[in-house]
Amino acid sequence: MGYRVAVVGATGAVGREMLATLAERNFPADEVVALASGRSTGAEVSFGEKGTLTVRDLAKHDFSTTDIALFSAGGDVSREYAPKAGQAGCVVIDNSSAFRMDPDVPLVVPEVNAAAVARYGKKNIIANPNCSTAQLVVALKPLHDAFGIKRVVVSTYQSASGAGKPGMDELFNQTRAVFVNDPIEREQFTKQIAFNVIPHIDEFMDDGFTKEEWKMRVETRKILDPDIELVAHCVRVPVFIGHAEAVFIETKKPIDEQSARAVMSDFPGLLMVDHRADEGYVTPVECAGEDAVYISRMRVDPTVKNGLIFWCVSDNLRKGAALNAVQIAEELIANHLKKAA
Ligand code: A2P
Repeated sequence: MGYRVAVVGATGAVGREMLATLAERNFPADEVVALASGRSTGAEVSFGEKGTLTVRDLAKHDFSTTDIALFSAGGDVSREYAPKAGQAGCVVIDNSSAFRMDPDVPLVVPEVNAAAVARYGKKNIIANPNCSTAQLVVALKPLHDAFGIKRVVVSTYQSASGAGKPGMDELFNQTRAVFVNDPIEREQFTKQIAFNVIPHIDEFMDDGFTKEEWKMRVETRKILDPDIELVAHCVRVPVFIGHAEAVFIETKKPIDEQSARAVMSDFPGLLMVDHRADEGYVTPVECAGEDAVYISRMRVDPTVKNGLIFWCVSDNLRKGAALNAVQIAEELIANHLKKAA
């Protein structure tokens, strides 16, 4: 017997990808329900190659009839509905930032800390990390295990889809407007995103970092190791899908390229594409629609004692969101959730 699954935010960029991922991976579901706001009730969304689902109103859904709900409708919706769903006996896998740092909520990237799923029962909520954090911790985990990471410096190049479908639409519309000489209209991003880059994602904090940069630090420490120091500088770039990161690490043990390549090549979810030649590296356009976290441009950092630099690229809607959520659900049903026969 399969599970009764709901996707909350099913009309959004990540919600649609969640539905696609559930279908692609043949998640053992008896029922998949697509939920969104009342505005979308009756709309149709794709499910799998040929299927469609009719969107229902989240506000009217009875979560006692659902085993697992994947939420991606923003923090406010999660704060209101995830605890209610959890209390009704449904396990929520939440893609928003609402519960990530809650000590009673595990924050999980299955390749890195699958065992943390065991603690889901306190609130019946499991958090999915920020998209930039998810791909980063997959890259860091084998290096941390082998060499002990002390410090990480990371600069991100984050795509418009990190701001959902409205973010992608804004990039498209502004790009068009530039060509036809229309006025640039701006709503999702703080400055023009077409033909520009913006060093500002999420709100500013008192110390000058942005919330996105803070999330990368605290989430990496929660998932991987609270002793790792990490500073991030996050930038939005005019790319539709795929986040890239320039990563600089310092390790406790001596590190060299060959050993770093060996441990990363063996790690699930990571793919090394690193040839010192034209096109011998991966860019966001090539990773869109793919599951892997790609590593390129690896070299030793000669300016610190044990340092390594690499380029890390992944589809932010997949490993950064939908795929990771479905992988958490797979871990949950394989090792934790008991389904009544
Ligand atoms: P809707 O299309 O009905 O507004 P994105 O991040 O791509 O913008 O997607 C956000 C998702 O969250 C959409 O599916 C959106 O549905 C959903 N959503 C937003 N607000 C609510 C709400 N109050 N209740 C339920 N779903 C919501």
